[in-house]
Parts: sequence; C-alpha cells; structure tokens
Amino acid sequence: MNFHVLTLFPEMVAQGVSTSITGRALKEKKISLETVNIRDFSKDKHNRVDDYTYGGGAGMLMQAEPVYEAYEHVADKIPQNSNKRVIYVTPQGKTFNQNMAKDFAKSDDIIILCGHYEGIDERVLEEVVTDYVSIGDYVLTGGELAAMVMIDAISRLVPGVLHNDVSAETESFHGKLLEYPQYSRPEVWHGKSVPDVLLSGNTKEINKWRIQESVNRTKQRRPDLYREYEALQKCKDDMMKKKLHHIDMIELINRGRAELVFSNDREYLLKDTETTVYMHTNLNDTKPRAFDELFDDEDCGIECVVLHQAECVPVVEERLGLKLQTECRNAVYTQREKLSVSGLYRADGKTDERGLTIRVLKDSDKEDAGKLHEWPNDLEYCYDRIDAGSMFGAFIHDKLAAVIGIHGEGSIGMLYVDEKYRKQKLGMALETYAFNWALEKGWIPYGQIVLDNDKSFNLQEKMGLYCSKESVYWME
Ligand code: ADE
Repeated sequence: MNFHVLTLFPEMVAQGVSTSITGRALKEKKISLETVNIRDFSKDKHNRVDDYTYGGGAGMLMQAEPVYEAYEHVADKIPQNSNKRVIYVTPQGKTFNQNMAKDFAKSDDIIILCGHYEGIDERVLEEVVTDYVSIGDYVLTGGELAAMVMIDAISRLVPGVLHNDVSAETESFHGKLLEYPQYSRPEVWHGKSVPDVLLSGNTKEINKWRIQESVNRTKQRRPDLYREYEALQKCKDDMMKKKLHHIDMIELINRGRAELVFSNDREYLLKDTETTVYMHTNLNDTKPRAFDELFDDEDCGIECVVLHQAECVPVVEERLGLKLQTECRNAVYTQREKLSVSGLYRADGKTDERGLTIRVLKDSDKEDAGKLHEWPNDLEYCYDRIDAGSMFGAFIHDKLAAVIGIHGEGSIGMLYVDEKYRKQKLGMALETYAFNWALEKGWIPYGQIVLDNDKSFNLQEKMGLYCSKESVYWME
C-alpha cells in the first residue's frame, strides 16, 4: 500500500506516520509514504499557492495549478494498472468509518490531498478527486490530521502491519458491537476486582460474558450502532429457520462483514463490506421489493448478487442487467468440534511418513499454484486469495500437489488435486485442513457446490456435511 500526501506541511505528516505501528510498517515496507509539498509547484516568486476568491468573501483559496502539478508529479509515477484512489480530506466529505477504511485498504495507491485556508479551487478538485472524505463533524485548520487519521486506520488493515491478525478482527466495530471491557494484572486495583468469570478458565462462559458486555456497552454508549446490530440479529434469526440454505448470509453476519442495505419484513439484502458481493433472500410470500426500491437503473454499480429464490433471477436480470452464472447448493459442517486429521496429515504442520505437508500458501508459492490447473476464476483471483492468506496447499516431498481456498465472500472452494496425485485422499486432507482452520476462527465452515458436481457432493457427504435442498443463484 503506497500513500502519497499532497500538503503544505509535509514534515507534519511524515513525522506523525513515522512513529509507532505505522512507523514500523514503513520500515518493514508493508506501507510506503511519499509527502509532496504543494508549495514546490508554485510559479509565484514568493512561493505563494493561495489567492483571493472570485466573487469576494473572507479568506484565501488554494489555487488550482500548483495543486494540479503536485498531483501530476505523483500520478505520473503510479503504474497505469494500479488500483488508485484520490481523496480530498474536507469537512464536506462522507464521514470516514471502518467500512470505508476496509474499502480503501484494497487500493494499491492512495493519494490524499490536504487543503488549507478556505479550501481549494473547485476546478482542480473536479479533475482529480475520486473521494471526498471528512473525519468528523468539526473543522480542523487543515487536512493533515485527517490524512494521518486515515493513513493509520487503513494501514492497520494491510496484511502484516499489526503482526497479529486476530486483533484486527475482534476490535470495536467488528460486527457492529463495541469491544467488551478488558483487565490486566493486578487482580485487585483500588479495591476493584477483575470479574470472577475471567479468572474461571471456562472459555465458553468467558465468551458468553464478553458478548453480553459488548451488547450492554453498545446499547448504552452507541444506540445508533445497537439499532444496526438488532436489525442484523433479526435478519439472522429469520435465516436460522432455514440455516443450510442461508449459511452464506448467516456467516457474513457472524463474521462481522454484513451491512444491511434493505429489509422489509422478512426480505433482506446484505452487502459484504469486504468484497463487492451482495446477498439477497425473500422469505415473504410477496414479490421482492429490494431491487425495485433501491436501484432505479442498471448503473447502480452492483456487479454480483447471490440470490436465494429462483423467482428473483428474472427480476435481477431485468433491473440490474446481471446474468445467472451458477446455481449452487450450500454444504455446511454443522458441528463445532474439529474434524479428525488422523490418517490424513499431521496437524502439527510437520511432514508425515508419505512426505505430505499442508500449510498456508505464501507469495513464493504463487508461480507453482498458478501452474497447477487452469484457474477457472482467473489467475489474479488465485493470487489475490494467496495475498489474503486464504489459500492452502498440500505438498508431497515439497512439490505442490493440491490446493484449496476460502473465497472472498467466505465459502470454502477452489479444491484442485494435480492428476498425478489423485486417489490419495489429498482432497479430503485439504478440506479437513480448511474446515479446521475456519473452525479455529469461530466460523461455521461451508462450501457452495455447483449443481451437477456429483463428485464434490459425494466428498461433502463423506466428510459429514449437510447440503441445502434449495439452491443459491450467483448473478454477475
Ligand atoms: N479539514 C478540515 N476539517 C476536516 C475534517 N473534519 N475532516 C477532514 N478534513 C478536514
């Protein structure tokens, strides 16, 4: 992730970002920061970059040309194929939040433009800016602090920056609830004891207590978030009545990634905040309303919707211009206990007697993984999943023999065993590995099987999974 900040105070941003965790991330080259002084692009002999506003009024405005030249200086060096955003930080922007941070974290390059004085000439903003962002409803003296806030929040979502992926998942705002209270030593401080349950060693009770505390705290401190949480809980409760059929939507909520964009009694449209996938179900006896009410043309920006009722397929075809890609059934592992690995592979990550090791794929495995089979979903997608740490490989004597992965929206799939290594239970070994990996994260593991893939249905049955009787429809 490369940040480029256009500012009148480059040292302020550079100093702020170069300390603490972002400083470490810079040193480890997990992120990079380029600060560009807009004043360096002034043509004025006194290096001025501001002038009076046309039409009168108090205050000065930053002129278009130096800002544009500073922008071009940065943009010219960014590769054409880079996923780039140009953000103008302004109190007039959309208020920054965790979902926006997640969205920006998918970019390769982020250019942040910091204003001063009364703002920046509108014409240059029109030409270069892709996003207008505010960090809150108050006015700062300039955009630098806002840029630093955004860089901090985005950087910690870049893989490897926190050194501990778990904390990025359990933090405040994950799943709409604030974090529960936490305690460290000593056991008693100022006469106040640590709650007994936390000393009990009973993980189940501890988790139950933590969720309840999170709920209470959210209700009290952030009623706005609590209302969103309640709405998602109702959606989840309704879908639990047809759990196998809706496991994809239920897990989106469980994993804290769901945004409820539409609900009408028992019709729901969820947006995955980490991909561009939407999921829809209509459990009412009436016609679906989400697509008519939310979107009035095909240019709504939706590229993919997963439907749960066949009747909705023509509606989405007509309203959003999407086509049916695949019809699948959900296969769900409904137990909480991990699957037995005995006779399949060594759970400690070591190599077994037949030379088999299973592990998470790394950057250096990309070439081998790419060659393994013709990627039906395209090679970039495979690389993307490796970058996300969500692809696993079975190696026989250090040679990659089979792969499996977790799709962007959460289902387990992409299983492929090299022809030379078939009939050795590698598929089962990898599925077991992926399921246990998901269970460790507290997820309910599931896969989506294309309707005529009998081989896969057989494997799922052997592994003790339950398949939904009803289909899901991928519209793209
Ligand atoms: N510049 C001045 N105030 C700001 C704010 N609240 N958010 C982003 N940029 C700003």
